[in-house]
Amino acid sequence: MKKVLLVGCGGYGAGYVEELLARGESLGLRLSGIADPYAGQSRVKDLILENRIPVFDTPEAYYAGNQAEIAIVSTPIPLHRRQAEEVMRSGSDLLLEKPVAGSVRDAEAILRTRDETGKKLTVGFQWCFNPEMLALKRDVDGGRFGKLLSMKAMVLWPRDIAYFNRGTRWAGKKYAADGTAIFDSIASNATAHYLFNMLWLAGKGYGAADARLLDFRAGRANDVETFDTVILRAETGEGVPLFFAASHAVKAEERQDPVFIYRFEKATVTFGEIAERPTALLAHLSGGETVDYGDSDNNGLGQKLLPAARYFAGEGENFCPGEAALKHVALLEEMWRATGEMPFFRKELVERTPGMVTVRGLAAILRRSYEEARLPGEAEWPV
Ligand SMILES: NC(=O)c1ccc[n+]([C@@H]2O[C@H](COP(=O)([O-])OP(=O)(O)OC[C@H]3O[C@@H](n4cnc5c(N)ncnc54)[C@H](O)[C@@H]3O)[C@@H](O)[C@H]2O)c1
Repeated sequence: MKKVLLVGCGGYGAGYVEELLARGESLGLRLSGIADPYAGQSRVKDLILENRIPVFDTPEAYYAGNQAEIAIVSTPIPLHRRQAEEVMRSGSDLLLEKPVAGSVRDAEAILRTRDETGKKLTVGFQWCFNPEMLALKRDVDGGRFGKLLSMKAMVLWPRDIAYFNRGTRWAGKKYAADGTAIFDSIASNATAHYLFNMLWLAGKGYGAADARLLDFRAGRANDVETFDTVILRAETGEGVPLFFAASHAVKAEERQDPVFIYRFEKATVTFGEIAERPTALLAHLSGGETVDYGDSDNNGLGQKLLPAARYFAGEGENFCPGEAALKHVALLEEMWRATGEMPFFRKELVERTPGMVTVRGLAAILRRSYEEARLPGEAEWPV
């Protein structure tokens, strides 16, 4: 049985507690400790108590008297570098939640520590571990669909004010009090999977494609330092155009779960484009045949634990290497190099209901942009 230290047991990390306690033994994993100074506020605090999982304030306190073959770091972004380095230097292989870090500099430092310590690192973009997505990846890499021509994705997920104020209030911030980069945004957090999936599928193997930012429109309606809405165009090193549109500032009835259309020479691959099957992953071949990969689940936190453990044990591949996830951080950092401040949406269009801030007409603009895979003109962008 491999010992697992979980750093961060509230928020998303609560799912790791549940998964490790419910299925850990069958995967050869035992939750042997938690490091989280606010563990008492986790929604799974009773489960932790009932199962007598030792809780520590810091990873250092855990390692003072214990070891762990595996650590999972699921904490706010500004803590990733320090904690990732700490757990690897203490002898653990690491499943690090996405994004790797808030800056390329910090992400690169984590990879350097991985190399210095000889430990293994995999990043928690769970779609890379999903069997249906991996089946598509094999077909893409095997050349079944020919050359990749273009990719576009859209997600419109309303998020309330409480979402931005959760936990230790790092959401939507640029820097932590100690100056550590955060740059948390819709594109680095909730919808990051759909931006990253394009890079990951466009690259050969699991290393992800390099991408260069072409242009973007961003805006904020919520009280964030970054942005809650973005439309961006990028291009891979091989010249494949990428388009991504996402917003949290839309109404519940305007919600659009993730959709994508990836065009290849000999097929069009779609995700979520069918109303009755919102997670259908399909390849429509030019000859008329359809390959149905099934319903591709990007929510199953559990689906990454076994492949991660197998990779750490030397028995499986690393489906989401640090180098791949670094490219997502690098693409977002380009936005910040282009501008220091993201604009607020026009006041007269911002609608406030208790707990929620949205922008009138914004969803329609994003949908139109997605249809045409182009940015709205400057005059059309309501900032
Ligand atoms: N893969 C996914 O789909 C997914 C989904 C949500 C969040 N995430 C990622 O998970 C990470 C955490 O996000 P979240 O939304 O759960 O954040 P959160 O703020 O809700 O919770 C983070 C947890 O870290 C704990 N924590 C805070 N300070 C700590 C410290 N000094 N040491 C140890 N623990 C500390 C908090 O008490 C909390 O339990 C982020 O990297 C985020 O991007 C991934």
